[in-house]
Amino acid sequence: MKHPGKNYEALDKKTLWHPFTQMKDWMASPQLVIQRAKGLYLFDTQGRRYLDGVSSLWANVHGHSHPALVDAIQSQIRELDHSTLLGLSHIRAIELAEQLIRLTPSKLTRVFYSDDGSTAVEVALKMSFHYWRHRGKTFSQKKRFVSFTNSYHGDTLGSVSLGGVDLFHRIYQPLLFRSYKAFYPACYRCPFGKQPTTCNIYCSREIESVLRQHHRQICAVIVEPGIQGAAGMLTAPSGFLKRVEALCRQYQVHLILDEVATGFGRTGKMFALEHEGVSPDFLALAKGLTGGTLPLAATLTTEEIFRMFHGEYSEFKTFFHGHTYTGNPLACAAALANLRIFRQERTLKRLQNKIRYLKERLKQFGALSHVGDVRHAGFMVGIELVEDRDLKKPFPVRNRIGHRVVLEARRRGIILRPLGDVIVLMPPLSITLRQLKTLLDVTFESIRVATED
Ligand SMILES: Cc1ncc(COP(=O)(O)O)c(C=O)c1O
Repeated sequence: MKHPGKNYEALDKKTLWHPFTQMKDWMASPQLVIQRAKGLYLFDTQGRRYLDGVSSLWANVHGHSHPALVDAIQSQIRELDHSTLLGLSHIRAIELAEQLIRLTPSKLTRVFYSDDGSTAVEVALKMSFHYWRHRGKTFSQKKRFVSFTNSYHGDTLGSVSLGGVDLFHRIYQPLLFRSYKAFYPACYRCPFGKQPTTCNIYCSREIESVLRQHHRQICAVIVEPGIQGAAGMLTAPSGFLKRVEALCRQYQVHLILDEVATGFGRTGKMFALEHEGVSPDFLALAKGLTGGTLPLAATLTTEEIFRMFHGEYSEFKTFFHGHTYTGNPLACAAALANLRIFRQERTLKRLQNKIRYLKERLKQFGALSHVGDVRHAGFMVGIELVEDRDLKKPFPVRNRIGHRVVLEARRRGIILRPLGDVIVLMPPLSITLRQLKTLLDVTFESIRVATED
């Protein structure tokens, strides 16, 4: 259905300030206003149809407006729209907590809700810090965190303090708390000159050295398991995460896994931690938790950490943290429906064949002269474009190659969003093989036209 009455694009440019967007460019160029969505497709106000190649910012899982999700939200709003978890409970929050505990490593027995990925991470940081305060004098020096180079954990100041994407985070430096940085594998440009197949995870020496020297000051290590998303889909060699876990145990620091991007099937398993059998002290979940419909996040933790906050009220051991919409019933109902669809549609089982196809097809991208590296973990793909392949030399920033590829794809009916010059593919898990073929064909052609023509 078209929208003849109103010029929404003009009104947008008059009223909105978009996230992560240079608004000068935005105002000067034609923009899409999305009106509705169905399955894998988004439709704009002109009635044009686009395949959602990045799951609406890595969130959508089963396609848009899946009937089971629509039903769950509709019936929930009739029953209970919102009620706080501060001093009260509600059924959907309890049911969801029970299911999340069942799906994750047995050590994780407690669920604390918040609203998005950034807040899920903030909760883990505050809980870890607070836990060590409760442990008393022996651990009183533990006030710092370790994160990895190029990491991204969100945009609130705690999360930014741990972030490693200089472009996003440098300016806020005076506002941030100091953290230790360890090297995250970046195999395409390995600074140690090693090959991933033979390096024996040489780069894990960095995190080892940080922990050996500073563990007495360190509360926790936070890591994106298996693949750093916003860094440009940087995949870690297998064994890296297990090594980080072992070091955390050895040096008595918490391990926080940020599965905000990788959770809910993106890497081919329900959670990326399953690939290496890792069991963290905190697990941060968001994005796909509600199937991509409503904002909801969860931070899972252990009974041991939970118990440390117990005491008489007057001892003030309480975790004083919570948001107005924490554990919103509509979002919890959507999350329960999301998990139900996983079971009913055997989403993970059906995904495996698509991952195999994707892996095979991605090999062809090497034929494009400006594709430097193709990285993927399950359904998370990064195609890095470079000006000179032999030298691995990036394009000049002003060329905005990633953006040009996105515009080419859009002309051909596909929505993508790049990370600089890394083209990201992260479709909903429910994509059909045929749609996946279209996504790959169009991406290939768009890269070719933007870089070679
Ligand atoms: C690994 C990771 N952590 C945290 C976040 C922040 O999540 P949100 O944007 O929901 O605050 C993101 C967002 O992309 C992410 O990829």
